[in-house]
Amino acid sequence: MPELYEVLSKEDIDKKVAAVARRISSDFKGSELVMIGVLKGSFVFLSDLARQLTIPVKIDFVGVSSYGDDVASSGRIQLNREIGIDIKEKNILVVEDIVDTGITINYLIDYLKSFNPLTISICTMIDKQQRRESEIRIDYACHEIQEGFIVGYGLDYAENYRHLPELYHLKL
Ligand code: PRP
Repeated sequence: MPELYEVLSKEDIDKKVAAVARRISSDFKGSELVMIGVLKGSFVFLSDLARQLTIPVKIDFVGVSSYGDDVASSGRIQLNREIGIDIKEKNILVVEDIVDTGITINYLIDYLKSFNPLTISICTMIDKQQRRESEIRIDYACHEIQEGFIVGYGLDYAENYRHLPELYHLKL
């Protein structure tokens, strides 16, 4: 039976999301920002983050998957939803639930660059560094961890636990 150990409470998450939202609102004040959420995991974080911003934004989503029902990335990225709005010469904020190996975010940066945006910034709820395969500049990270499989607040294991309001370490 999998066991869950709380990593961040609802209150911890709220504070961290608010702090990052303040930085983003200040950094992009007066400029156009398009938030691109990476489905499915980012749906909870993006909705909280967007509502804490004090600047107007546009929102779109891309769908990618690499983990299937496994705890380790397959390394093969499937793009199952393309962006649907024009991002040419726009400032883009990619919103992830977690950056782990970095394979997904690197793939997405290349994909988004092909639409000629002005800038691409990366925002993640969890920055997990232990398995990072190449150096990635993460502009906004709410919480850093070294190891462990994290679920809740949008993150799943075999599609379970996404609905939990807190973040947990899953022990199988
Ligand atoms: C997760 C997460 C990131 C990616 C990060 O997605 O949402 O997109 O893995 O891992 P990486 O840095 O090792 O590439 P997943 O493939 O589990 O799909 P999901 O968002 O639908 O859960």
